[in-house]
Amino acid sequence: MTRDAVLPIAKEEILRQEQIAREVKNRPDCPRTYHIITYGCQMNAHDSETLGGILERMGMRAEEERDAADLILFNTCCIRDNAERRAMGNIIFTKEIKKTKPELLVGVCGCMAQQEGFSDRLRKRYPHVDFSFGPGEIYQLPERVLMALEGRREEAFKAGEDSTLYEGLPVLRSSPFFAYINIMYGCDNFCSYCIVPYVRGRERSRGMADIIKEAEALVKDGVQEIMLLGQNVNSYGNDTNGPRFHELLRALGETGIPRLRFMTSNPKDLSDDLIAEMARNPAICPHLHLPAQSGSDNMLRAMNRRYTRKTYLDRVRALRAAMPDIGLSTDLIVAFPGETEEDFMDTLSLVEEVRFDSAFTFIYSPRSGTTAAKLPGRIDPDTARDRITRLIAVQEKITAEVFESLIGQEAQVLADGTSKRDETQLTGKTGRGIACNFEGQAGQIGQIVPVTITGFGSNTLKAKQIM
Ligand code: SAH
Ligand code: SF4
Ligand code: F3S
Repeated sequence: MTRDAVLPIAKEEILRQEQIAREVKNRPDCPRTYHIITYGCQMNAHDSETLGGILERMGMRAEEERDAADLILFNTCCIRDNAERRAMGNIIFTKEIKKTKPELLVGVCGCMAQQEGFSDRLRKRYPHVDFSFGPGEIYQLPERVLMALEGRREEAFKAGEDSTLYEGLPVLRSSPFFAYINIMYGCDNFCSYCIVPYVRGRERSRGMADIIKEAEALVKDGVQEIMLLGQNVNSYGNDTNGPRFHELLRALGETGIPRLRFMTSNPKDLSDDLIAEMARNPAICPHLHLPAQSGSDNMLRAMNRRYTRKTYLDRVRALRAAMPDIGLSTDLIVAFPGETEEDFMDTLSLVEEVRFDSAFTFIYSPRSGTTAAKLPGRIDPDTARDRITRLIAVQEKITAEVFESLIGQEAQVLADGTSKRDETQLTGKTGRGIACNFEGQAGQIGQIVPVTITGFGSNTLKAKQIM
């Protein structure tokens, strides 16, 4: 894919939106408070931080109670049917709130809003919804609010460009010591089951200088951990012919950030250069999320993943040879069309062979417009549920064994809060990305604390501070 497919949003357009934001802020009917409901992945979580930043610039402040807010914004996800159903149920419900509060504004954005024909359906079927826009049009939020306030309904729902690239939007970070940075947008991989390339547009990498500048500002602000985001971070720079991902990581390591993470890595593009940089760069956490999806070559081919079980396992071996203590996690899909019991057993055996720290497991959900949605051989729901239950049981056993093997080892935990059940217990993540509880002082929140692992629960480690 060439740069031609990318629509860079000019500085002038960002400034024009800022001007509209000021205009809206001064209107008597401008909402005073907002509530954002976020579904889906880290990308969406970060987009919501940007949406929050823009709304604050418009003079609004966050309202924790959904029903008390003047503006409710749904940042939606359409990766699986249940994500969509949950969002739609809540969007429809806002009609009830509007009955007693007619001035309420309801907006819908995120991946659902970019689906073919969605915004038209929303506009026609749900008169209580006021505006919508896709993930590539976040910068237009001030104008969409203005259109909604002025009743310019057709324009307020206009579906537009998905392959935009913009810089300079405000971000309202949800944590003082942890931050996301988007390094690229979109995806070109077209895995046969996946809707993302259709709603997030073509792959486009941000410039390295812009990313470094953002990281430097975060370091200056006291941020301890940065997570780099992209659907396929390993192909960073391929579209621009600029620096590649391992070169970006090297430069980011030099900003002085204590901890760096990234997701998601596609196994087909996991280069030796990247593995070498992970092993060399002290800021990069000893953890990699490497979605396998399936252990069966038949399924991997049908999924258009463009790697085999063997090449996946080769990558795992290379990672562990370079970093013996690295923790691996993964995503797995069961009941893909045509999946036989034998194919499924291949996934179970892959899980046994790799011994992931953890796995996100999903039942295949057909997404309209994707090639897999047209495949024969749908798996019946009972078989699908049986397979996911067996898979989860195997992974839970392995997780417990991995956790047990960590007892007695030292780890570095970025303390991010106190335990809900016990205020004397701090919680946080180890470098390996595992949740960990230990006794500490509230003043240590936001610090990286050295601990010794002493035990574990179902999803967490227990530890003791090294004094
Ligand atoms: N870009 C990432 C994945 C983002 S989506 C990657 O390639 O790894 C997160 C996960 O959702 C995927 O890894 C996959 O396991 C799951 N997923 C995506 N589409 C799905 C579908 N139609 N049905 C079930 N699970 C799906
Ligand atoms: Fe979807 Fe595949 Fe792209 Fe990941 S790499 S976002 S699974 S198409
Ligand atoms: Fe969902 Fe969009 Fe993320 S479909 S998983 S929110 S990229």
